[in-house]
Amino acid sequence: MENSIWKKKWYDFAQEEALKIAAVLGSPRSQGNSSTLAHKFLETARELGAEVRVYPLNLMNFQGCQGCGACKANIETCIQEDDLAPVLEAVKAADVLVMASPVYFGDLSGQLKCFFDRTYSYFNPDFSSRLPGGKKAVIVLVQANPDEGQFNDIFPRYQRWLTWFGYTPVYLLRAVGVKDPGDIRQQAALLDQAASLAQEIMK
Ligand SMILES: Cc1cc2nc3c(=O)[nH]c(=O)nc-3n(C[C@H](O)[C@H](O)[C@H](O)COP(=O)(O)O)c2cc1C
Repeated sequence: MENSIWKKKWYDFAQEEALKIAAVLGSPRSQGNSSTLAHKFLETARELGAEVRVYPLNLMNFQGCQGCGACKANIETCIQEDDLAPVLEAVKAADVLVMASPVYFGDLSGQLKCFFDRTYSYFNPDFSSRLPGGKKAVIVLVQANPDEGQFNDIFPRYQRWLTWFGYTPVYLLRAVGVKDPGDIRQQAALLDQAASLAQEIMK
């Protein structure tokens, strides 16, 4: 009963911060399948009290990692001062990272891959993580090919790096057989799964 809601004072509630979610969207199609699936998760989380920030990478002006090594030498962040700099800071501050992408040539879209390469700046020189612990991640992947056995290597590859950064667990929301924007709306069970995952994370 010590933690009972009835025993809390107003300032206890004031000190409770909302769960922060940062979502990076890798599709150039704003109404596309990956964005729609990600938004189902994000809208549910927002309704449950999360503070949600969404970053549509295709609308941003940034480059991939330049391999300059500055983040391993004299500074602890990426040296590039472009549109991605505040996104990298927001992801660092967030409790949950959402990465959504169409499958392009068996991998993430180029937009999301460029973002991911820039997270190299989250590594210390000894490749320990600069990120605070206790974070979770959600990877959203959609593909036209209806065969689940195709391109199922993408998730474990990126899960591995995210786990290294300290994200645990790393969840997957995956749609196969979706090609045109809106196709995902035919997969009601998957949209429900996105909402359920948000409920689980917000518990
Ligand atoms: C450049 C390009 C490459 C693609 N490569 C693949 C692929 O390797 N495998 C696949 O199943 N679908 C592939 N697709 C189809 C997209 O993954 C599919 O249309 C997806 O639903 C798009 O997601 P979005 O609506 O979020 O943009 C490709 C599409 C494009 C434009």
